[in-house]
Amino acid sequence: MNNINEILKEALDKLKNVGLKDTAVIEDIENIKVEYLGKKGKITEILKTLSSMTIEEKKKIGSLVNEAKIELNTALENKRKEISNKLLEEKMKNEKIDISPAFSFSFPKGHRHIISKTIQDMSNIFVSLGFDVYSGREIETDWYNFEALNIPKDHPARDTQDTFYLENSECLLRTHTSPGQIHVMEEMKPPIKVIVPGRVYRNEATDASHSAIFHQIEGLVVGENVTFSELKGTLKLFINRLFGQELDMRFRPSHFQFTEPSAEVDIKCVLCGGKGCRVCKGSGWLEVLGCGMVHPNVFRAVKYDPEKYTGYAFGLGVERFAMFKYGIDDMRVLYENDLRVLRQF
Ligand code: DAH
Repeated sequence: MNNINEILKEALDKLKNVGLKDTAVIEDIENIKVEYLGKKGKITEILKTLSSMTIEEKKKIGSLVNEAKIELNTALENKRKEISNKLLEEKMKNEKIDISPAFSFSFPKGHRHIISKTIQDMSNIFVSLGFDVYSGREIETDWYNFEALNIPKDHPARDTQDTFYLENSECLLRTHTSPGQIHVMEEMKPPIKVIVPGRVYRNEATDASHSAIFHQIEGLVVGENVTFSELKGTLKLFINRLFGQELDMRFRPSHFQFTEPSAEVDIKCVLCGGKGCRVCKGSGWLEVLGCGMVHPNVFRAVKYDPEKYTGYAFGLGVERFAMFKYGIDDMRVLYENDLRVLRQF
């Protein structure tokens, strides 16, 4: 009996030591199993001596041996699990999986569309000159788009802006960003210094220089002593910064209902330097914007005192500037979104 317990203890002790050294391997456990429970194992050997025993002894020793076998088997099994977990853990610790090849291709990078980029570049210049940016509305009423801008009903000036009217509604799609001026003046008190960039709509056929949907940036400055020379200085600074060069400019007298006096601004053709090319149609000049001093009637429409306040306004076409800046001679290129074109900018 003692013998059995001793043998079992010896086996369990050996098992305990397995895995304490770095070389711990499953075979050590197998060897212990063979040494004690194998055909010629130490515990198996005891069973072989049963035949020379009395029935009583056989029963007693037999069941002790069985218990010892079960205990040792359980211990072996536990050890086996322990060791294999430990080995797996070590393996995981040393094994680094390099997942970088899975991400080694590069995603194609997008960028802003030329129109958005131009609006942003232009707005940034005005912001650096102290202008705030105001968002107007694309759907307007007749009052904001025309009437308040000193364009009464039946006035021929309306014909120059082929308007999209909304069905069964008083509303229309704004034909210019100028109605933004009215909203700004209704919402704020002078001094005012804002730009209103946005999309505008005209019911006209598309060609190389026209589109039914295009973009403008409106400017409005109102205060007590705002002068035409400030307007000139501001626009000159703006043009030179945008094109990154000192460009000759000329102010041509013109007519707009909402400004008096009014002017149109031409710049020396950026593409040919004034020699004459297909973009400036041989004239050497490019017409880039309309501007003027805010008409007293416009001030009256927003209940500003025209005796107290003066102001200037300007409106410029984003697409035209983008075309001049990037040397594009067909406006449609800006809307077709052909990737071969977009990728060049
Ligand atoms: N709204 C005009 C247009 O679309 C452009 C314009 C001209 C705006 C003169 C202005 C201005 O503010 O003063 O044709």
